[in-house]
Order: sequence, then structure tokens, then C-alpha cells
Amino acid sequence: MRLNSMALRSFRSYTDCETEFSGGINVIVGKNGQGKTNLLEAIYLIATGRGFKARSDKELIAFSSQDAHVSARGVSGDRERRVELTLRRGQRRDMSVNGVKCRTAAELAGNFSAVLFCPEDLNMIRGGASERRRLMDMCISQLRPRYAAALASFSRAYEGKTRLLRDCGENPGLLPLLEEYDLETAKYGAILIHYRANFVERLAPEAGRIHGEFGSGERLELKYKTVDTVTDPKAPPSAILPELLEHQRTHKDAELASHMCLSGAHKDDLEIDINGCAARAFASQGQTRTAALSIKLAELNIHRDTLGEYPLLLLDDVLSELDEGRQDFVLNRIGGGQVFITCCEDERVSDRTGGRVLTVDGGRIYG
Ligand SMILES: Nc1ncnc2c1ncn2[C@@H]1O[C@H](COP(=O)(O)OP(=O)(O)O)[C@@H](O)[C@H]1O
Ligand SMILES: [Mg+2]
Repeated sequence: MRLNSMALRSFRSYTDCETEFSGGINVIVGKNGQGKTNLLEAIYLIATGRGFKARSDKELIAFSSQDAHVSARGVSGDRERRVELTLRRGQRRDMSVNGVKCRTAAELAGNFSAVLFCPEDLNMIRGGASERRRLMDMCISQLRPRYAAALASFSRAYEGKTRLLRDCGENPGLLPLLEEYDLETAKYGAILIHYRANFVERLAPEAGRIHGEFGSGERLELKYKTVDTVTDPKAPPSAILPELLEHQRTHKDAELASHMCLSGAHKDDLEIDINGCAARAFASQGQTRTAALSIKLAELNIHRDTLGEYPLLLLDDVLSELDEGRQDFVLNRIGGGQVFITCCEDERVSDRTGGRVLTVDGGRIYG
């Protein structure tokens, strides 16, 4: 897939600008704060229906404006696509593809897809479980629309249950609602677990293989961890559901006593071992970086294999965090599709990668 051009109006720091992209590598250079990351976020929005830093549409709209417009033209699955978004303060957004309205972000996301690689990803090994769940969620949501829908429903039910457990001490009248929330979190949680387990089954050997190519002689292993009553997380959600309900039942008293949600897929993790030791606790900085790179590159390959073409690859400031050996390791494995790399002016990334240079300065893009 390929994005040929994009137009931004009142999107973050961009007032009004249009730009064209190369089908290969695009190197986006500029001083700090000039809008390099904002440009990648616009591409990510086109591909996934959401920003990667923003928590709401409001943050994507230029401070001085009431609405923002992002439009892009490109090709995916051999079809020309024109994606348009209008974001509004305090109102629903409009989204369309080739002039046909999309009702949900998941519908929009079916057109382009993107793999984002940023410095925070380098923390995924040693950070908390939420970072590794986010990795699974972002990747599977793009590949499986049913997962994205289940994740949204799960989050709503989980937030409802958390609120209820927090407030039920002062307001016992809420307690009868708990059963409904339990059922909803288990029902959608079972779907998440099924997809996560099947995703990790593909991710683990691919990441291990790429890690092996790095030549350190070390072994990278990934294991999906979920609620311990689940006997086969790859099983259909209908088989997982009763096992989740059983776990909830045995944790109910503890949940009521602690006012916290203790049972469910919100505590899932991806265990990462290097040579049989938990990377989270024992890996050196170099080892965690190589492991994180291997996992991200495996994610890229899974996208490619699932879609039958390379997704858009977005590298935000990630190369400058790596030594030369690891930079080469990444650059040698990303050539197959369209790539967008941001870097500071003095990093000379374009000398090493070739490709089209786009200079971002004061909310304008010069190509
Ligand atoms: N909603 C917004 N409206 C206007 N400016 C914004 C908005 N969001 C971010 N910015 C501005 O964008 C700039 C940061 O852009 P960014 O793309 O992160 O820079 P960099 O080139 O360093 O990656 C900051 O100056 C910030 O104030
Ligand atoms: Mg940036």
C-alpha cells in the first residue's frame, strides 16, 4: 500500500498544507517542535482512525480552530483510495473513503494500515504489562475488526465495573448491577484472550527468528499470560467464557473487599524471556533494545503476511536512539514497503537510507 499525498488543515500545528510522498522511504527532517511527529500522527490517523499520542479528537485540532481536516490519497489492495476526516470540537467526526461515509473508526481502518515504531517501544520489555497489552491491542485491532470492536466493548464494561466497585461501599444500591458487568467483561474478555493467544502464537516464532538473525547467539521467547483458570487461550471464546466466570466467582469477595477489579483480561501480559530468563528483570539495555526491535519487525511481517502487502511503516525518532549496528539491523529489514522516518536535521539519516527528504519548518512542509 502507498500514500501518495496528504492535505492537512488546522491539524495540530499545521494551518494549511499539502504534501506528496515517495512510494519508498520518506525522511522527514526538521528542528524540534516543528511538526514531524504531528505529520506521522496524521498518517496514523488515516490508517487506524485514531492518533497515537492524542487521547481525543480535541487534541488533534489546532488550538485556534473549531475543526480539523485531514485528507489523503493512495492505493491499497490495488484500489485507489481517498480518505477524508473532519474532526470537530465537541461533536462527532465525519469520515469517508472515496466519498462513502464510514460509521466507525474500524471501518476507516480497513483501508490502510500502519505499524508505528517510536522510542517508547524500546521500553516495552522492561515497562509494565500495560505497554505489552498495548502492543497486542494496537496490532490485532488493525488486523481483526472484530477484535477492535470487542476491545471497545470490554473497556466500557471494565470501566463500568471499576466505577461500581469503587462506589458500592457508599452506595450499596449499585450492587445488583455487578452481575451484568461481570458477564460483559467475561464475554468480551474471552474474545480478547482468544485473539491475543492466536496472535502471540504467530508473533513468538517470527520475533525469535528475527532475533536469531541479529547474531548474538541468544534465544528470545514470548509467552502469552492470561487468567489462570483458562486452560486453552487459543480455544473459541465460547469455551473460554465459563472459565473466566469461574475465576470471577472465586475472586468476587476479594474484589468487593478491595474495591478493585481483580479478575479478567485487563491484567494480561506478554512474558518475554531471553535465554530462559525474564527479560523484564534481567536484560541489559542492549538486550532489551534488540528484543524490542525484533518484536516490532515481527509485527511488521505479520501485517505484511496477513494483508498480502506491506503496511505503512512509521519510525518516529527511533533511529537516533540506536547504535549503528542496530540501525543497520532495522534499515536492512524495512525496505519492502513505504516508510516514513522522522529525524533531526543533523542526524544524516537520509544519507544512509536514501529516499525523499521532506523538511518540516514552522508547520509547513517543503519537499
Ligand atoms: N492541537 C494543536 N494545535 C496547535 N499546535 C499544536 C497542537 N498539538 C501540538 N501542537 C504543537 O506542535 C508542536 C510539536 O510538534 P511535533 O510534531 O511533536 O514536533 P517534532 O518536530 O519535534 O516532532 C508543538 O509546538 C506543539 O505546541
Ligand atoms: Mg517528534
